[in-house]
Amino acid sequence: MRYWAELAGYSVELARQELEAVLRTLGSTSPEPRPVAWGERVVAFDTDRIEEVARRLAFTHRLLLPLTTGTLADLAAALKEEGKSGGTGALRPASGNRIPDEWVVTLGRSFVQGGGRVDLEDPERAYVLHRGSTDPESLALSREVARTARLSLCRRKAADLPFRKPVTLTPLLARGLVNLAACPPGGRILDPFCGTGALLIEAGNLGYRVIAADKDSRMVKGTLTNLAHFSLDPTALTQTDIDGLAAALEDHFPVDAIVTDPPYGRASSTHGEEAEQVVERAFLALRPLVRPGGRLVLMLPVDHLPGAALSEWTLEFPPIPLRVHASLTRWVFALTPSPSRAT
Ligand SMILES: C[S@@+](CC[C@H](N)C(=O)[O-])C[C@H]1O[C@@H](n2cnc3c(N)ncnc32)[C@H](O)[C@@H]1O
Repeated sequence: MRYWAELAGYSVELARQELEAVLRTLGSTSPEPRPVAWGERVVAFDTDRIEEVARRLAFTHRLLLPLTTGTLADLAAALKEEGKSGGTGALRPASGNRIPDEWVVTLGRSFVQGGGRVDLEDPERAYVLHRGSTDPESLALSREVARTARLSLCRRKAADLPFRKPVTLTPLLARGLVNLAACPPGGRILDPFCGTGALLIEAGNLGYRVIAADKDSRMVKGTLTNLAHFSLDPTALTQTDIDGLAAALEDHFPVDAIVTDPPYGRASSTHGEEAEQVVERAFLALRPLVRPGGRLVLMLPVDHLPGAALSEWTLEFPPIPLRVHASLTRWVFALTPSPSRAT
């Protein structure tokens, strides 16, 4: 069935990639969201698992069922029909769409003329009004079919964790990064720089088996505490430098995906080593630990891979910038191991 997704403005490209990755995870054969003529924040996609798509997504606001397109008069007629089935409804403009109030009032009246009642607080049906991107006189009407996980992820704060540090990722960002891994349901996800475990919590909450490590024993202990807070158990968790990982957890490799937030700058402990050097070592150490086609999703403070990684990894999409604050932009990468060269 055809739906529309209303992507969050935080990073539209990241939201589009997340939706595509979730559709892949759920076995879609045509996962690529398609642009529609109703603003860059609305994309069309097909699925027969809409509730499951909604349960996973972090960077999309809501999922919509397209109802009709046309002029204001066409939409008024459609809403009158909708009103005939009785019940309550609310009509709101799509995020980022500028729509005159009087249009909304006109359409609301048509719904009431049909027999519906307006309830802006808790409507049985939430309608969304979209304005054409190239032709602002053309309109579209959709109905919300599902809210995504976004709202509950925004409410859950990193500060609520029993063990937290300045490096702790927000649940929203952590969930989005896990989704970008496009890991098959129930698969194994590794975070080799687990810190306080924010990524593992989201992976565990989605039913993935989690494997993790950190060089710092306090982080390993803290991650265990945080996972237990969500009644989650790691499949494996150990204290090791990235280079000792293969030997320390050899029975668990290759994993289906790696999602991680390596050390950067001064904010997280690198135990005396330059962060760039740790990251460079990581790209080589992680290459044999993920199965062919499995993704490595990570954030870097730069928009390019270190030279050592270039032949080992293939970009799944161009890196996407995320502005963390005025002086820090981080880039989201999704990579797969490059096929081994013939000898
Ligand atoms: C940016 S933090 C991870 C934060 C984590 N995503 C969270 O939400 O809490 C990076 C982590 O890498 C660990 N680390 C630094 N150098 C390492 C190395 N050589 N091997 C393994 N872990 C290392 C640090 O102890 C730190 O916990």
